[in-house]
Amino acid sequence: PLASTGELVTRAAAARSAVPAFNVITLEHVEAVIAGAESTGAPVVLQVSENAVRFRYGRLLPLARAAVAAAERAAVPVALHLDHVQSDELLRQAPGAGFSSVMYDAARLPYAENLAVTRAAADWAHGHGLWIEAELGQIGGKDGRPALDAHAPGARTDPDQARDFVGGTGVDALAVAIGSTHAMTTRTAALDHALLRHLSAALAVPLVLHGSSGVPDEGLVAAVGDGITKVNVGTALNIAMTGAVRTYLAARPEAVDSREYLGVGREAMAREVARIIGVLGRTPTG
Ligand code: G3H
Ligand code: ZN
Repeated sequence: PLASTGELVTRAAAARSAVPAFNVITLEHVEAVIAGAESTGAPVVLQVSENAVRFRYGRLLPLARAAVAAAERAAVPVALHLDHVQSDELLRQAPGAGFSSVMYDAARLPYAENLAVTRAAADWAHGHGLWIEAELGQIGGKDGRPALDAHAPGARTDPDQARDFVGGTGVDALAVAIGSTHAMTTRTAALDHALLRHLSAALAVPLVLHGSSGVPDEGLVAAVGDGITKVNVGTALNIAMTGAVRTYLAARPEAVDSREYLGVGREAMAREVARIIGVLGRTPTG
């Protein structure tokens, strides 16, 4: 059934576990994430990023409608989340498109501006029943932009500033920069676990890990133990899908039916979803 992100995250926080949140680009992604989650019995968040909307010719509704229909028929709770939103116009489409939550991304802005625009977004979101996540400290690697030096001050979330930011904006969750980077194709990111523990101690809201595809399994498990409550995974699904499709087509140059390679790509993504959920440990469904 269709679930709400806020409820899944609250339940995970109470159980000291984390909700897996997978980025979806195509209908095959949607189906694979749900199939993978169903095979484990765990709830899941489907997230559509502003970049994915751009890929869909700028239209949110076609993929969102399909995701809502798939979630409603799923055997596990499935929530819809709008990810890395920079455009207020897109933010305003979220409630009508079936999303229970958004991640408002103004981390590229100077601190005072990030605070001001995020507070306005949070006010609007709460007025429309949305759970809202925001980012402080830049988690690099998005949009093909080079990652900041992971040790640069702007690339890490400062605990004191984070407390001020959460209090000043009223957001429901915070994406923290603790050493992960978006779009990594190797699982080699070294998380700053001491910083994460400081952030967990300083903040009352759930913390979100972005760029989780680049984090080794043991790093993910440790991060959940240190207070990460939502784990965002995108690139790992693309790696699984593209690898499977490439292998399939290389072995069968005569193939023409798109169902053949989309099917193997979808199965590879579903297996990766189930694997990652297994790493995170099962989140109780209540
Ligand atoms: O918001 C989405 C995630 O941060 C995905 O990052 O593609 O590096 O796994 P990733
Ligand atoms: Zn992200």
